[in-house]
Amino acid sequence: MKTSMLATVICASALLLPVVASASDDMQAVQGSVVFAQNCHACHSEDSSKNTFGPSLTGVVGRKAGSLPRFAYSDALRASGITWNEDKLRLWVQDNEKLVPGTRMRHVSITDKAEQDYLIAYLKTL
Ligand code: HEC
Repeated sequence: MKTSMLATVICASALLLPVVASASDDMQAVQGSVVFAQNCHACHSEDSSKNTFGPSLTGVVGRKAGSLPRFAYSDALRASGITWNEDKLRLWVQDNEKLVPGTRMRHVSITDKAEQDYLIAYLKTL
């Protein structure tokens, strides 16, 4: 009896875990959209597929830096050889001028690890 109860509890929590994990990803992305609105939106459009002062960020996670055809990037970013993954995005929002000296993007400094997590979760949804 005891064993089967335990088995039920284990099964139930195994089923619940993925749900909880994906809900928290969504929550992070929601928080990230707030961080984005405060720090990035002025130059990167609400419509993430549009180039405005900054390049479109649609699909930026996994993209090669400086690779959109219709945006006038700095030579520095174009030549950086970076592919935007989580680590690189973290370094970029922490201190973009340190990661790519000579970039045209104004200095940003998001040093809070949780804010970086939120922002990256949000960028993944674009
Ligand atoms: C003052 C305007 C401005 C702000 C604020 C700004 N950006 Fe940018 N962003 C730019 C410009 C301009 C570029 C192109 C840089 C270059 O060519 O060197 C850029 C480039 C980028 C890139 C590289 C895209 C690519 O196609 O390689 C990413 C990623 C990015 N910004 C993310 C962000 C995030 C996240 C924030 C907020 C924390 C932010 N930016 C805030 C203007 C801005």
